[in-house]
Amino acid sequence: MFNSRLRVFKLVWILANIALLVSATFSVDKLEEFEEYQKFTNESLLWAPYRSNCYFGMRPRYVSESPLIMGVMWFNSLSQDGLHSLRHFATPQDKLQKYGWEVYDPRIGGKEIFIDGKNNLNLTVYFVKSRNGENWSVRVHGEPLDPEKPSTASIVLYFSQNGGELDGKSSLAMINQDGPNDLKFFGYSKELGEYDLTVKDNFGHYFNNPAYDTMEVAPGSDCSKTSHISLQIPDGEVWKARDVFQSLVSDSIRDILEKEETKQRPADLIPSVLTIRNLYDFNPGSFHYVQKTFDLTKQEGFEFDITYNKLETSQSISTKEQVTELIAWSLNEINARFDRHFSFEEGPDSIESVDVKRRFALETLSNLLGGIGYFYGKQLIDRETEFDESQFDEIKLLNAKEEGPFELFTSVPSRGFFPRGFYWDEGFHLLQIMEYDFDLAFEILASWFEMIEDDSGWIAREIILGNEARSKVPEEFQVQNPNIANPPTLLLAFSEMLSKAIENIGDLGSDSNEQVTFNGKTSNFMTNNLEANSDLLTEYAKKIYPKLMKHYNWFKDSQAGLIDEYAEICEDEGIWDKIHKNEVYRWVGRTFTHCLPSGMDDYPRAQPPDVAELNVDALAWVGVMTRSMKQIAHVLKLTEDEEKYAEIEQNVVENLDLLHWSEKDNCYCDISIDPEDEDVKEFVCHEGYISLLPFALKLIPRDSPKLEKVVALMSDPEKIFSEYGLLSLSRQDEYFGKGENYWRGPIWMNINYLCLDAMRYYYPEVTFDGAGEAGKAGNAKKLYQTLKTNLSNNIYKVWKEQGYCYENYSPIDGHGTGAEHFTGWTALVVNILGRF
Ligand SMILES: *[C@@H]1O[C@H](CO)[C@@H](O)[C@H](O)[C@H]1NC(C)=O
Ligand SMILES: *[C@@H]1O[C@H](CO)[C@@H](O)[C@H](O)[C@H]1NC(C)=O
Ligand SMILES: *[C@@H]1O[C@H](CO)[C@@H](O)[C@H](O)[C@H]1NC(C)=O
Ligand SMILES: *[C@@H]1O[C@H](CO)[C@@H](O)[C@H](O)[C@H]1NC(C)=O
Repeated sequence: MFNSRLRVFKLVWILANIALLVSATFSVDKLEEFEEYQKFTNESLLWAPYRSNCYFGMRPRYVSESPLIMGVMWFNSLSQDGLHSLRHFATPQDKLQKYGWEVYDPRIGGKEIFIDGKNNLNLTVYFVKSRNGENWSVRVHGEPLDPEKPSTASIVLYFSQNGGELDGKSSLAMINQDGPNDLKFFGYSKELGEYDLTVKDNFGHYFNNPAYDTMEVAPGSDCSKTSHISLQIPDGEVWKARDVFQSLVSDSIRDILEKEETKQRPADLIPSVLTIRNLYDFNPGSFHYVQKTFDLTKQEGFEFDITYNKLETSQSISTKEQVTELIAWSLNEINARFDRHFSFEEGPDSIESVDVKRRFALETLSNLLGGIGYFYGKQLIDRETEFDESQFDEIKLLNAKEEGPFELFTSVPSRGFFPRGFYWDEGFHLLQIMEYDFDLAFEILASWFEMIEDDSGWIAREIILGNEARSKVPEEFQVQNPNIANPPTLLLAFSEMLSKAIENIGDLGSDSNEQVTFNGKTSNFMTNNLEANSDLLTEYAKKIYPKLMKHYNWFKDSQAGLIDEYAEICEDEGIWDKIHKNEVYRWVGRTFTHCLPSGMDDYPRAQPPDVAELNVDALAWVGVMTRSMKQIAHVLKLTEDEEKYAEIEQNVVENLDLLHWSEKDNCYCDISIDPEDEDVKEFVCHEGYISLLPFALKLIPRDSPKLEKVVALMSDPEKIFSEYGLLSLSRQDEYFGKGENYWRGPIWMNINYLCLDAMRYYYPEVTFDGAGEAGKAGNAKKLYQTLKTNLSNNIYKVWKEQGYCYENYSPIDGHGTGAEHFTGWTALVVNILGRF
């Protein structure tokens, strides 16, 4: 799958010729096909829990004017301070023993679990859709963790549908109540049409105490049946559903305590006190709370279904048996798809069994996919603050203005910790997602490329749209500035996608495209349509090329470095004439301690910083961007452009060696001007990820003697190698483990993955079983095999012991560090286990 460059070029050449032959007849058909593809994509990806910052929260994709917004919350209402443990947004502070998807695919559905010790609750939420993706059901199933422990599961649902009325009726109104606990709503949205929404119990015991003739402690406060109230909340505020619930219930409690007749209520009526009621006589609105309070001393727990059906459907989801059937079908289907894309074998790793390995990988992939969200809203941008080239104090972005609204379809690094779009991370997410659902990866990529500004070519480093997303970001990181760049990993992913698509031209028998029966007819459209049908992808490439070129030029211009400072020095060294003066770069916006734009925040750099500093990683990333542009130009048969990019790429490759290779240190380094002596060029060498990047990004020529030296550095247990993966910074570096210790030793999956992938590229023989050869290839093979095993062993072990994937891993003992439930790029372990 990660093909060699040689092979790609040969196939690109074939493609160019095929395209030439068919181009006359191609367009109309292809256009139709592309539209059909889009229609399928829109339908199959319309509904999913796209509010991935919530434990479970839904909203439709690309429905921005009048979305139906939904969320699930819960707490133990038998506990007096239960309201404090009301769960809503995923956060590590809740200290759930475990949460996340066991099985998930946004096109199909899935199963998410929550083990919440504090609330004594074992909760499972199933999400399923009808085959055409238009109707869906959410099954909420709960059991006590310990039935001996008196507690309740008070489940609070909310639904909101703004966007206008229909025939004088609210856009979401309760139309009837079939008995005390089954509710039915009618909804209308300009974009979604008319629908109904039902909440129906399958089983469960509402909290009740037969010693009292009623559980109703005040009018409307009764935990023995479903509570419902409605009010009006604008879309921009719906995310505060938890706060609003807490304050309405607190007001209700205060009211109860003030009244003589309710003051002296026995403690076992607390669950009723903690239910929601319409204290203020709100008029019916289109925002609804539904609360159900189940008794958790009953071992069998409870279960209910929430079902959305478009009106006038021939086959609405109407019974619980249908939901049960859909759940079984969905889980099966996802498992089958997973097995078509990944295979697991016994290997040298120490994972107990192939079965366990597969389950771990499926769960990990599911959580990466479960992070996918649809974001809509305004972004804070500061366009006024200029960066003074020669000062390196932290620059505050104080001139922020809201712009937008924008929309973004993206995965996130961590639902609990980083629930928003990150430019640096997303390319890595796509490297994993494209191996499972190529078209889904493409949709995400295309959404990001839409964010390229038409005038400037800039994309923000973090995309934080609307108040809901902003509420999770510390203030100093909320504002974006168009001088700041980030490693362009999306182009790395796009280049990989084009290569795969092009490769398939020579391989039409590929089984990667899955046939489905969709709306009554069999269709090829499923998950790998673009991969199997590269014409479609090239159609897209044609459309996006001008925008990408802008982005490329923006990066090069905004991060261009100063070379003249080195003129004399380089002349003395006799390399001045060889250096390509336009291909030198540095990250704008670094401070004394941090270089946030590089993505490796506290990785050591030149001290003190200097305007003339040149960063080897910035140059390497330009190399990647250039290579992608060259590939796209080739596919589009823009020969002149292709030649231009090929030349720039070559210049980048040469500059890496001419300027950044330190013979004395045997590695690639930043360079700067010696602060003591302006006539001296200084190599700033900190062995670690930055020095590995030219290798990791496949920018070193295949015949370069430097390859061996990089392999030696990676293999050195005194420096970067460890039993848990490659360290971000060498053990021998003076900054190892110091300060924040973020990129100063901890093991990160993204760079480990690139290094493994690069080893496969430079030394194809490393993947063959059997004893290692002697010499260079032998060293690479040994490193590859060991690193691959050690890395996956450790991530598996931590998952088993600590329950989650982590942001990074300790260089000392491998335990999970940084954010927990970080199933962003750490999920690349799935490719390593199931495809490498
Ligand atoms: C799919 O959705 C996108 C985004 O809303 C829209 O621009 C496009 O026209 C839709 N395509 C089809 C064929 O429905
Ligand atoms: C949670 O409930 C499910 C059944 O719904 C069960 O299979 C699982 O073992 C339970 N987990 C715990 C930790 O009790
Ligand atoms: C879901 O809704 C559509 C109406 O848009 C309908 O045609 C379809 O049959 C419905 N139900 C199922 C189970 O697919
Ligand atoms: C690291 O990999 C090697 C080679 O596969 C293996 O022998 C060793 O046990 C692994 N160590 C750990 C801690 O996984």
